[in-house]
Amino acid sequence: MVNRTAYFIITNECNQKCKYCFYQIGYYKRFIETEFQLEDAKILIRNLKKAGFKEISFTGGEAFMYKYILEIIDFAHQVGLIVTLCTNGTLLTREDIEDLKANGLNNIYISLDALNEEIHNKCRGNYQLVHQTLINVLDVDFDVVGINLVLTRYNFKSVGGILKYCKENNILLSVTPVWLLLENNDLQSELVLNQNEQMIYINSMLNLADEYGVTYYEKSLIFFNVEKLQIPKQCQVSSSDLVIQPNGDILPCFFNKTVLGNVFNDSFDKILNIRDAYLRTEDLNLCFSKFCSNLVWE
Ligand SMILES: C[S@@+](CC[C@H](N)C(=O)[O-])C[C@H]1O[C@@H](n2cnc3c(N)ncnc32)[C@H](O)[C@@H]1O
Ligand code: SF4
Repeated sequence: MVNRTAYFIITNECNQKCKYCFYQIGYYKRFIETEFQLEDAKILIRNLKKAGFKEISFTGGEAFMYKYILEIIDFAHQVGLIVTLCTNGTLLTREDIEDLKANGLNNIYISLDALNEEIHNKCRGNYQLVHQTLINVLDVDFDVVGINLVLTRYNFKSVGGILKYCKENNILLSVTPVWLLLENNDLQSELVLNQNEQMIYINSMLNLADEYGVTYYEKSLIFFNVEKLQIPKQCQVSSSDLVIQPNGDILPCFFNKTVLGNVFNDSFDKILNIRDAYLRTEDLNLCFSKFCSNLVWE
């Protein structure tokens, strides 16, 4: 299998309490307050490079709460990986952003749900800080500046405005439909788009995508296969990426909690062999995340 990106949840700590967050709704709760020791993180990064991974994406929790974040970014860069940071954008000063660049950070993704303070704050909060961070990030020469937007009933009508802003400022927009534990019916009806709203979103965005000259790749990040109702053939993420939990557990995907191994107990080669064997047996029909932009369809 090809190894591409390792998503490293380097800490579970976070300064925010976003309404829909996996951690707030219990999906990842059992790992709260765990994080990697610096030396362990370095060993893991060397192993990732040896196994042929091209990119490491630091995430969390809030990765910027990890006290060695600058040091570990520098290390991953020195090892020869493309380095990406996914952040809530609330803790980074202008100097921090310059330090990130100086330490070898290539790409930065900021979570922003709307360009409107009230809408963004419905689920996330701290709009002013996040928006200022985005402005500061655009002043520094990163390879990719991206916005991660979680699609909800609060913001689905305002994504067009953010797409225009992204096209004007050379920002990559990535939209993920909010995913919640099914048992939480109240939050479900508050946040998850119904079929009619999905169609409104898709139709309005398809028109804008044409008007703004959105590329095929950008479209895949905005439409996340929502129009496809067939059976997925392959999952690109699980066949080339990995998620590393702060306790060392390796998962095939953020949404799939199957533990393939643990970096503190198993050799990296063994984990990758288990991953490859698992993929051959995985039934994608059972994957709840039919909206995922990483599924390959018939
Ligand atoms: C878990 S966060 C970690 C990084 C950082 N704290 C942040 O908020 O950007 C990674 C991404 O997952 C998104 N996310 C969190 N909970 C989600 C959910 N229930 N459904 C879809 N995306 C979610 C966040 O908005 C963020 O873009
Ligand atoms: S900032 Fe990120 S990790 Fe923190 S609560 Fe929000 S989505 Fe979750």
